[in-house]
Amino acid sequence: MWLPLLLFAFQVPCVQGVPIELAASPGWIEKGPAIASTVHEWLIRGCTHAPESRKLEVAMPRPALIALLCAAFAASCTQAPPPAPDNPNVKVSEYGKTPDGQTVLLFTLRNRNGIEAGILNYGGILVSLKTPDAKGEFADIVLGFDDLPGYLAKHPYFGALVGRYANRIAKGKFKLNGQEYTLAQNNGVNALHGGLKGFDKYIWHAEPAEDGEQRLRLRLTSPDGDEGYPGSLNVAVTYTLTDNDELRIDYSATTDRATVVNLTNHTYFNLAGEGLILDHLIQLAAEKYTPVDKDLIPTGELAPVEGTPFDFRKPQRIGARINDPHPQIQAGGGYDHNFVLDGEPGTLRRIAMVQEPTKGRVLEVSTTQPGVQFYTGNFLDGTLKGKGGATYHKRSGFCLETQHFPDSPNQAAFPTTTLRPGEEFTSTTVYKFSKGK
Ligand code: BGC
Repeated sequence: MWLPLLLFAFQVPCVQGVPIELAASPGWIEKGPAIASTVHEWLIRGCTHAPESRKLEVAMPRPALIALLCAAFAASCTQAPPPAPDNPNVKVSEYGKTPDGQTVLLFTLRNRNGIEAGILNYGGILVSLKTPDAKGEFADIVLGFDDLPGYLAKHPYFGALVGRYANRIAKGKFKLNGQEYTLAQNNGVNALHGGLKGFDKYIWHAEPAEDGEQRLRLRLTSPDGDEGYPGSLNVAVTYTLTDNDELRIDYSATTDRATVVNLTNHTYFNLAGEGLILDHLIQLAAEKYTPVDKDLIPTGELAPVEGTPFDFRKPQRIGARINDPHPQIQAGGGYDHNFVLDGEPGTLRRIAMVQEPTKGRVLEVSTTQPGVQFYTGNFLDGTLKGKGGATYHKRSGFCLETQHFPDSPNQAAFPTTTLRPGEEFTSTTVYKFSKGK
């Protein structure tokens, strides 16, 4: 595993013009993984974070070293021209290490108005988002932790990219082309958010933009059979922080066997930067929602929101009806439901607006997806210590997870989540930040 990596690494100095110093010593087989990890780190950091000199003690016999260098020389002749200089709008820093020694990097995108988005290559997690309030004071408006151990421990998907199938699949089973697939039942009897090791727990390959834009491309390959899903899936997610104060997320995926895909981002917002979200006003462009059973699996019905606590066609306080006796509110312990978005799926259209009355921040969400899971942090119970020691109580944050409907693989009438070889899944979601009056 590490040898090809090492080989590839030798091409890097030829591209970047940064010397790698090599030295031979015994015991190279045992040291292989450690070397590979160092090299891997350099590769991920790429050109935006090139140290001035790179000293690598490659502990291996001289003949092996010479063979590798020859291969590296041959490969370097076919390399692309040197990449652009460091991008000042994408800062890269080391965030920590996973227990198996992999380096986790933090990429901070900053736009011309000073808005900053911090994203990890671990889980593609949006760890911070600093936006101004009506007075121009910046605060971090997403829930999460101060450091990597928080994200490595069990947590409710703070800021994470979720896949291969975001939301629930009933009983962790579905049929495709007549074959039944069995997934991990990691949420009672159901499968949730991609399984035991979903995309939120992967180290993604990160490529910061080299053209000066505030953009980060993340890629991963989920192998055939990963968490029970068929097909090797290539996924790419690009975060772009525009100078119009939008955080845009573009998703794409291709497969080599028929599979199911539902990708989202699971950020918990709190537009005041602290406290509960009950006084935020929310408007959702949805005439219908998908009612659920006691396990939060859709019944299959598309029910009108009219006359129910799910009617957000005009702005409403999130807290106004959150404890309503309506059986669906009781089933969700608040809002934990998929809304059927008005307009044409595939078209980028505005589907939500949220306003926070004390600080005046406004969030508008647009998406190409057919649905959005509006989740009001009902399972936060005060046991998680978040940023700056904050306690995350029930309803400290809300999620607007743009997505396909839950359990679509078992619901023939829902828009399909099947992806076949030769097809490409794409979706876009844009979160726009502004100040109220
Ligand atoms: C689900 C909730 C779940 C939360 C954290 C949301 O997307 O709808 O039911 O508790 O994610 O896992």
